[in-house]
Amino acid sequence: MPDGKPIYVLNGPNLNLLGTREPEIYGRATLADIEKACAERAQQLGRAIVFRQSNVEGELVNWLQEARDKAAAVILNAGAYTHTSVALHDAIKAIGVPVIETHLSNPAAREEFRHVSLVGQAARGVIAGFGATSYLLAIEAAALLAQQQGQ
Ligand code: DQA
Repeated sequence: MPDGKPIYVLNGPNLNLLGTREPEIYGRATLADIEKACAERAQQLGRAIVFRQSNVEGELVNWLQEARDKAAAVILNAGAYTHTSVALHDAIKAIGVPVIETHLSNPAAREEFRHVSLVGQAARGVIAGFGATSYLLAIEAAALLAQQQGQ
């Protein structure tokens, strides 16, 4: 049984459609496939995960606030809210738990409106561009940060 706090993996709008949504950009893995892979990798590292998705910005804010006490680290793929949400930026700053901005695609190599990340300006670090593997790399980073912080 893992004894430290869990890693929260929070997913924003349209990520529930993974598998069929623009597969040439986002790949064929579904969000359920990604959840399973994250849980397995985390378990190997002695961590549990809490994995959630919402299309609603305020729900993501609520979950970040919940993570303040309950999570060792947060992996956040905020989808399009990455590029627009002052509320997510502020929540990340408020909670003091390390947040790893994570993306399947590499927004910096895409349309100009994706080049700004309000999430990234508050996050501890960013992992992007490796498809579903981005999440597994983020699990590694989150587990390491959690361990370093004695969480
Ligand atoms: C995304 C990148 C965002 O720009 C986009 O709005 C998404 C998915 C990604 O994982 O590559 O919804 O966060």
